[in-house]
Amino acid sequence: MSNADRVALVTGAARGLGAAIARRLASAGHPVVLADVLDLVGETAASIAADGQRTRAIRLDVADEAAVGALPEMLGEWWPNLGVLVNNAGISPKVNGRKRMVEDTPLEEWRRVLDVNLTGPFLLSRAAIPVLKRRGWGRIVMVTSQAARMPSSITGAYYGASKAGLIGFARNLAAELGPYGVTVNSVAPGRIRSDMVAGAAPGLNEAFLARIPLGRLGEPEDVAEVVNFLASDAAAYLTGATVDVGGGSYMP
Ligand SMILES: NC(=O)c1ccc[n+]([C@@H]2O[C@H](COP(=O)([O-])OP(=O)(O)OC[C@H]3O[C@@H](n4cnc5c(N)ncnc54)[C@H](O)[C@@H]3O)[C@@H](O)[C@H]2O)c1
Repeated sequence: MSNADRVALVTGAARGLGAAIARRLASAGHPVVLADVLDLVGETAASIAADGQRTRAIRLDVADEAAVGALPEMLGEWWPNLGVLVNNAGISPKVNGRKRMVEDTPLEEWRRVLDVNLTGPFLLSRAAIPVLKRRGWGRIVMVTSQAARMPSSITGAYYGASKAGLIGFARNLAAELGPYGVTVNSVAPGRIRSDMVAGAAPGLNEAFLARIPLGRLGEPEDVAEVVNFLASDAAAYLTGATVDVGGGSYMP
């Protein structure tokens, strides 16, 4: 099976890390479905297609069970050829560019973060499992965060909790799907230049920079390269792993 027979579905692909991941997987030969809540996803898919790759753009809220359930019908012949799922969509609400403290966190906001960052990947994975099992080959990659591994002064506790939950989910899923030739791994980015990071209050990114041995914030492409590796045949014997992509800002 070549990558041309392995459709990749990337959530949160309109911009940032998701767009870079979609572009990288497309350049590796995968037909790519870009899913996002933003209309911008159409433009992003078109710009990748302009480089000669097969893409489709869909509007999808990953936390919407009915919408995820409708994916097979929506994607038609692309769906049975699914090979790679990248659960990248995520949110990190801020108050004036700063983290929300636990004692000030409305339950509604807590629930939305968990819904998008953790329940979304569950819904997408659950939908993809029958296809990947049937094919006897599959790759699921979770985009978690360094905030799952250590406390953060920039993101709210709900964000760290959702991303730590995602790592736990990935490990359990890896154990369930290993016998079917399907691997499940996580990438844990540090501080990567994107719209999410640009929204931080003045000084926060600069303070973080001082803790990065490689001396720079990450680029979306730094993460995309690792995701592409995890999605490849070269990573066949890797499952249940969490790869830190943070320039050395976290070393377990
Ligand atoms: N940028 C970083 O430093 C960093 C660090 C660690 C982890 N991450 C994670 O990487 C992923 C991408 O982040 P980014 O920095 O590119 O952020 P971003 O905000 O620039 O992009 C996130 C994308 O996800 C989409 N999205 C949000 N909610 C959605 C939903 N319910 N359904 C579908 N799409 C939805 C957004 O519309 C957006 O296009 C996130 O999961 C984030 O938590 C980012």
